[in-house]
Amino acid sequence: MSKIIIKTPATSANLGTGFDFVGLALNRYNEIQIEALNDGKALIEEFGFDNVGDNLVRKCFEDTIKKYSILNKHYIITLLKNDIPVARGLGSSASAIVSGVCGANYFLDKKINEEELIDIMVSYEGHPDNILPCYFGGLVSSIKDEKLYYFKHEVNDELRFFVLIPKYKVRTEEARKILPKSYSLEDVVFNSSRVMLMSKAFKDADIELIKKVTDDRVHEPYRKTLIKEFDIIEKAIKGTNAKLNISGSGPTMLLISKDDIAINLIKELNLDLDIYNLKVSNGCIIKE
Ligand code: HSE
Repeated sequence: MSKIIIKTPATSANLGTGFDFVGLALNRYNEIQIEALNDGKALIEEFGFDNVGDNLVRKCFEDTIKKYSILNKHYIITLLKNDIPVARGLGSSASAIVSGVCGANYFLDKKINEEELIDIMVSYEGHPDNILPCYFGGLVSSIKDEKLYYFKHEVNDELRFFVLIPKYKVRTEEARKILPKSYSLEDVVFNSSRVMLMSKAFKDADIELIKKVTDDRVHEPYRKTLIKEFDIIEKAIKGTNAKLNISGSGPTMLLISKDDIAINLIKELNLDLDIYNLKVSNGCIIKE
């Protein structure tokens, strides 16, 4: 018998202008245990998931095992900790995919090399913005072509990250449907000029620059209509040293600051939100 626990972090994709290609890993985790029994049975069982029989961890685990080997053991997958809420823009599906695929690779004696492993994980989501930081940790940007290019950027530890999680869900498909099919040249230049300075802003913890580089015209103006708290909070923190963005496709909002002024103003609003002060995570961990 052998047993592992896989710990995968929440991730906040986009950071405004990094739509579909930037993501940040944060220290809220899901934990999955996978146990392999040599009891003559060849099957996969799962415990603790809401959607038993149809959960993404199991699907990714089973597909990957079967792609590279045959199912010849009795695997028991158990959800131990579920701290990443579903459909809130905090990368719960990336967490499930990374757990399932990396868990399978462990029991395949790590025969899948890292490049292939990443390709498999990204193929489940379509875009790499949550998968890469979930796996590597930190702030990761990427280009997805026939080949995937990525880079992990430095994040200054003076920066403070707060996630503001509404009680309702927004499905990514719904939040993608409301986006325009095309953009003006002015909006394209507005966004792309900002992205070039994102790395510098996070390395230097330069809040004034962070406010600029995360100021987006591609998705946030449309998506904030799905998040009833967004404009209220933005108005309340105007003039502070803090920036509010939509986390992934929402409805969670990510507040970046260097002090407590903005978050205290937000708490005074008494909105129906779960608020967590999080740190940058170093990514997925497998404990034997
Ligand atoms: N980048 C995606 C989006 C969500 O904003 O639709 C996270 O993968």
